Amino acid sequence: MSWYDIFPMVSTTFIALSAILVAIGWRLIIKGRREAHQKVMIAAAISALLFFIIYVSRTIFIGNTSWGGPEDLEKIYLTFLLFHIVLATVAAVFGITTLTLAFRKNFAKHRRWGRVTAVIWFATAITGVTVYVLLYQMYPGGHTKPMIEAIFG
Ligand code: HEM
Repeated sequence: MSWYDIFPMVSTTFIALSAILVAIGWRLIIKGRREAHQKVMIAAAISALLFFIIYVSRTIFIGNTSWGGPEDLEKIYLTFLLFHIVLATVAAVFGITTLTLAFRKNFAKHRRWGRVTAVIWFATAITGVTVYVLLYQMYPGGHTKPMIEAIFG
């Protein structure tokens, strides 16, 4: 197995782990366990940050992978990829806002933002894992090239 295979596998694992931690953290706060909620949500944020660091390093050092499956599926894949990228960006902004509200002890607002953040986070993880499966598992990955080229051809 080369770095080419390891990087996406590890970063996808961190996305999935992060969503699982958010689900656990949500359950904990419903049960009233505030301290455990805080710890698990911080772990979820660190896991998402690790994903981001790995993703960015890979983009810089190796590049992004273009679609390697059937040509007639490429447009659908790229639309789905763009949808995932938009979701992930929104999730990051909502995640930072939710964390900031918690640390400022504005818990009434945190609670409202937290629910939306958690749902967007789950959607990001599900679409992220789907992109990984489509790009690396169902079909052989295409060429590795710089991000802009991989997205816009
Ligand atoms: C990105 C990370 C976080 C997410 C996604 C998140 C999510 C949530 C959600 C969904 C709720 C509402 C649960 C419900 O009523 O259904 C909640 C409540 C709460 N969270 Fe977080 N949380 C995060 C981080 C934190 C942190 C770091 C702290 C502590 C500093 C914290 C403290 C609390 C408290 C005290 C409540 C209860 C508020 C109340 O009872 O009105 N959360 N959070």
